[in-house]
Amino acid sequence: MSWAETIKWRGEYVEIIDQRKLPHEEVYVEIGTAEEMYDAIKNMTIRGAPAIGVAAAYGIALAAVNSKERKFIEKKIELIESSRPTAYNLFYAAKRMRKLLARKTIDASVFIGEAIKIHEEDRKLTELLGENGSKLIKNNSSYMTICNAGALATGGIGTALAVFYKAKEAGKEVTVFVPETRPFLQGARLTAWELKKNGIKPVLIVDSAASHVMKTEKIRGVFTGADRIAKNGDTANKIGTYSLSLSAKENNVPFYIVAPGTTFDLTLKNGKEIPIEERDGNEVTEFMGQRTAPIDISVKNPAFDVTPNKLISGIITEKGIIYPPFEKNIGLVQC
Ligand code: MRU
Repeated sequence: MSWAETIKWRGEYVEIIDQRKLPHEEVYVEIGTAEEMYDAIKNMTIRGAPAIGVAAAYGIALAAVNSKERKFIEKKIELIESSRPTAYNLFYAAKRMRKLLARKTIDASVFIGEAIKIHEEDRKLTELLGENGSKLIKNNSSYMTICNAGALATGGIGTALAVFYKAKEAGKEVTVFVPETRPFLQGARLTAWELKKNGIKPVLIVDSAASHVMKTEKIRGVFTGADRIAKNGDTANKIGTYSLSLSAKENNVPFYIVAPGTTFDLTLKNGKEIPIEERDGNEVTEFMGQRTAPIDISVKNPAFDVTPNKLISGIITEKGIIYPPFEKNIGLVQC
């Protein structure tokens, strides 16, 4: 498998692949301050919940490199926390980094060490997700995903796509149907590119073809990532995931979420409490820089939706697969 590493600690700065430029250009950007990391997360240079978590940790480490002042670092943590509201991994990483402010002395190397640890843990978690999920994959079968839940979206090999990578490693051949994922096109630009690069056949579809494809092709399962999972299993993921889960139910296709423990927010009772990011309307009124809608039009552009637990067949974690009833079983697995 050939991964384009999403994020790397380079000693004095962080290097990230610019996901806005893929698949046409493989451009790497240097991030040297917490503000630059805030911008990179907000403008989607780096995206995907676990990758955002790792990026946040490094961004906070850069704040500690730039100043020993507790107040300064706390302000930068708050700035980074304000970049994107839905992905829980960001808040998980910020919480771990914030704990270091309680130490007697502020030592940048301790912050860097913790960020590297969060990155390394994420890498290992994705391996386990892939191994646990790949047992569900049948040889010579077709599956569906949404958005990009691959290596680009994590510090390792991905969440949902890790399942296909590990299945391939085990000798299974799969085809993955990839909805383009408007408006940012993570499916068309990132997932199709990443799967191809790693020897897995993607079939690109427009988002609105997903129900039809589930009905007419032999889709054995839908595997998606998650941005935040509430205590009862309700799951926020890329806009369109909820529609996929409804189509899956209607067509008797199993619907799996693949996510590490760092995506579970057990302080939230259910999905209604998950904050949903609304993004700029011009992502919808324009396509590749070209205006496609009339001017002065109202736009609603939620970046995520919540799939209710009753539509989820199982949640694949590093500890194993959690099955319904999620209210009871999430607590037992304790990610
Ligand atoms: O807006 P994005 O591209 O950050 O959204 C990403 C997703 O919805 C992914 O499915 C999710 O973060 C899980 S990625 C491993």
